[in-house]
Amino acid sequence: MTIIEHAEEIEHLSSGKTRVLVPTMGALHHGHERLIRHGRSLAGKAGQLIVSIFVNPTQFGPGEDFETYPRTPAEDRSLCIAAGTDILFQPTVEEMYSAEQDLGTNADTKLTGTLCGPDRPGHFDGVCTVVNKLFSLIQPDIAVFGKKDYQQLAVIKQMASNLKMPVKIIGSETIREKDGLAMSSRNRYLSAQQRAQAPVLYKALKGISENNNLESAARIKAARDMIAREAPLGKISYLQIVDRETMQELMEIDRPALAATAVQFGTARLIDNIEIDPVI
Ligand code: PAF
Repeated sequence: MTIIEHAEEIEHLSSGKTRVLVPTMGALHHGHERLIRHGRSLAGKAGQLIVSIFVNPTQFGPGEDFETYPRTPAEDRSLCIAAGTDILFQPTVEEMYSAEQDLGTNADTKLTGTLCGPDRPGHFDGVCTVVNKLFSLIQPDIAVFGKKDYQQLAVIKQMASNLKMPVKIIGSETIREKDGLAMSSRNRYLSAQQRAQAPVLYKALKGISENNNLESAARIKAARDMIAREAPLGKISYLQIVDRETMQELMEIDRPALAATAVQFGTARLIDNIEIDPVI
């Protein structure tokens, strides 16, 4: 595996091979490993698999965990090697944000009025800014993102389409612990008691998908009640059912939908979602 830290080195890396990018913020866990292996299978033996690790300051709001976000460079490198990475791109903040007139890239506001959008103003603009920069530098044919951040995936697909970027965006399934908790770098912030209650996110979302009431409100109420009952240490930031493509709130589940939630446990903000099929 080659490690590259400077933008100009990655820019000059022409290979003629299919290039697959897996962007991450590091603190890699088993979920990332599956994402990287997915990237490897898309690149094939002949293609080039690039993993980027960059804790992107512009996607963190004031008071969020940018400074304390876990950084585990040695472990990340070993995981990248084990998962078949060809190139690890690890730029510095100065390298990525050096231009004096950095206008950034805005997320399409049609997709950010629900779920994490209102909770984290500017977050998706920061994500689009850094992903646009990574795409410009690396010029991938394919880029892989986790479905745990479903709204992020939708926003990035839309950005690529709006800007006519020649890159195929692939969503990779969420990887879970045995008890259903979605794997996340932020799970390490949980105390033992919070960790014991955290699987309720997925349990409540599964309850929503198995409940066949047409009306979203009834399903949401049952899920909220479950979280309040089983996770007194958690505080629900949102629990919504949206159209899977447009991210607009759905009153009735009459088309492919997504139930998604964010629950704050102390300093850990956990998110999760589940795809639901329409009630016919
Ligand atoms: O999902 C993440 O880890 C980040 O939001 C991403 C896509 C790497 C951009 O910083």
